[in-house]
Formats: sequence, C-alpha cells, structure tokens
Amino acid sequence: MSTNDHDKTKDGEVPTTGHSWDGIQELDNPMPRWWLWTFYACIAFAVVYAVLYPAVPLVKGATPGLLGYSTRAEVEKDIQRFEEANADLVAKLTQVELTTDAIKADADLYNYAVQGGAAVFRTYCAQCHGSGANGVQAAGYPSLLDDDWLWGGALEDIYYTATHGIRNEDDPDARWSQMPAFGDDYLPQEEIDAVVQYVRKISGQEHDAALASAGETVFLDNCAACHMEDGTGDRYQGAPNLTDAIWLYGGDVETLTETVTYARFGIMPSHQERLTDAERRAVAVYVHQLGGGE
Ligand code: HEC
Ligand code: HEC
Repeated sequence: MSTNDHDKTKDGEVPTTGHSWDGIQELDNPMPRWWLWTFYACIAFAVVYAVLYPAVPLVKGATPGLLGYSTRAEVEKDIQRFEEANADLVAKLTQVELTTDAIKADADLYNYAVQGGAAVFRTYCAQCHGSGANGVQAAGYPSLLDDDWLWGGALEDIYYTATHGIRNEDDPDARWSQMPAFGDDYLPQEEIDAVVQYVRKISGQEHDAALASAGETVFLDNCAACHMEDGTGDRYQGAPNLTDAIWLYGGDVETLTETVTYARFGIMPSHQERLTDAERRAVAVYVHQLGGGE
C-alpha cells in the first residue's frame, strides 16, 4: 500500500488542485512524510545554529551567537598553541652559535630550522628567488641552489645577506658595491666591444680572438679591481665570477654589452625588521642546506 492511498477518492482517483491545462490536470498529492520531516529538521537546526553561532549579518559584522565562536579566534588559538610548543626551539635557535656544526648537533633544532626556514622562504624570498630557490626567470635574481656565490655561501654570510639585504636604501648595513656604467664616454665603444669579447673568452664562449686580446688590457685596467685579474670575481664586493657559465644577467654579446655600458644595480630588501632573528637564522639554515652551502 502506498502512503497516499488514503488520499485517493473512492473511485481510486487522486484529488486534483482543480488546475487544468489543455486537459492535463495538476494532482494534489501531499508531500512524502520523510521529506516533510527532513524539512522541519532543517528549520529546527537553522534556529538552533542561528542562536549559538554568528549568523545574522548586521552593519558591523554578524550577531555573535551564544557560544562566542569565531574562526579568527580559532586560528589565533592554533597559532598560539604552535608558538608555545616551539618556544624552546625558538629560544635555542636565537642563542645557538651560528655554525652548521652547532645547529646540527641538536637534531630537533636543525629539523625545526630547516622546516621553519622553508616556510619563511616560501613567504618572503620565493617571489624573487623562485619557490625552489633556483632563481626566477627574470635576470638578476640569483639561484641559491648552486655553489656560485656573489657574497658568500657560509651560513653566516647567508644570514647576513638575508638580514640586511643588498644595495637597499633602508638598511645602513646592507651589502653594498656599485659597478660603474662604462658607456657615456667613459670607455669608447671599441673598448666596450673588445672587453665584451674578452669576457666571452674567459667564460669559455665563442669570441673574436683579435678583439678579445685587445679587451684583455681594457679588462685589466678597468675591471680587474672588482672582478680580479683572472675574472673570478670578488665576494667582498659582490662582483660575480665571469669565468663560469653561471650568469646573473646573461653571457650573450648583447647582454654583456648592456651590462658594461649601463651597469646593473641588483637590489635585495632588508629583512631585519620584517623577520625575527630566529626566522632569519632559520631561513639561512634552510638556504645553506639546499646544496650550495659552504
Ligand atoms: C625583492 C627581491 C628579493 C627578495 C624578496 C629576496 N631577495 Fe635575495 N636577492 C635578490 C637579488 C636581486 C639578489 C642579488 C643582488 C646582487 O646582484 O648582488 C639577491 C641575493 C641573495 C643572496 C646572495 C646570493 C649570493 O650569491 O651571494 C642570498 C643568500 C639571498 N638573496 C637570500 C635571500 C633570502 C633568504 C630571502 C628571504 C628572506 C631573500 N633573499 C629575499 C632579491 C631578493
Ligand atoms: C667597482 C667594481 C666593479 C668594476 C670596476 C666592474 N664591475 Fe662588473 N660587476 C660588479 C658588480 C658588483 C656586479 C654585480 C651586478 C650588480 O651590480 O647587480 C657586476 C656585474 C658584472 C657583470 C654581470 C655578470 C653576470 O653574471 O651577469 C658583468 C658581465 C661585468 N660585471 C663585467 C664587467 C666588466 C667587463 C668590467 C670592466 C669594463 C666591470 N665589470 C667592472 C662590480 C664591478
């Protein structure tokens, strides 16, 4: 027996609403009972929910609800819980001697520094250095994975760079150096062309031998003070090694000519104010263990 049988008229017909369109009638079956109870249950749930939880939107936010729940407070509580759980490690990381040996001696501490440093890196460094620290495609942002360092790859060097940045105006301790622009009559165009060919030569690339040999003198007179006589660079000045195949801006003739003519001025911001000391130490440990650390 169907539940609707009692609603049928004596002759077995279901009552109609009286509506009829082109002979098609609208039957007047009651709602199935399971549906109706689900519907009532939803209303009851909504009333209870609206009383207990934030629900009705008002001008300055929603009604708070009797339980006083807020997602923001939950997140804050979570964060506080994590901070308390890590307080010991954070204190240790701030005090430990800044050498890989000292940090690695405590496996928990090292693990915390690498994990925490990875999180800091994703938030504060990845936009310039790439999420895998391989340098983003735009020229001038170095890969931090290799052992080619402009300023130094020891833990302390990385920590210093991460803390003060490079050539920025807002940290008096930022690493600083400036390659002069050799265009603008400083060097005649022939000498720029020659020194570019010489850089091509010492980096093991195809070059014009005659120009390159003229370029050697130009190099020794104008470039060796920073890039060293053999072109391998100088970390005290952040002057890159020009003899390897790793380029900050590019090793093709056009890019080299542009670099020598106009110079570059790579800027990295200071993180002294932005990050805590423990965060800067952690990110240095993270970068150091990526592969190129010294
Ligand atoms: C706004 C872009 C930017 C951000 C953000 C940034 N960097 Fe850099 N970083 C640079 C540039 C540009 C250089 C290269 C500057 C130069 O030419 O010497 C650099 C260089 C470095 C170097 C030196 C590499 C070497 O070869 O010696 C390290 C280490 C470094 N960054 C680490 C970090 C860490 C860690 C963070 C995050 C806390 C970070 N950077 C955030 C742009 C950035
Ligand atoms: C006062 C120091 C100084 C002198 C002199 C100098 N450079 Fe540089 N050079 C630098 C620094 C620092 C950089 C790093 C780029 C930056 O400023 O962001 C650099 C970068 C370069 C680069 C870019 C390398 C790359 O990986 O893309 C080339 C090429 C270069 N120099 C060639 C020369 C040549 C050729 C001369 C001489 C005509 C010269 N430099 C003179 C300091 C110097």
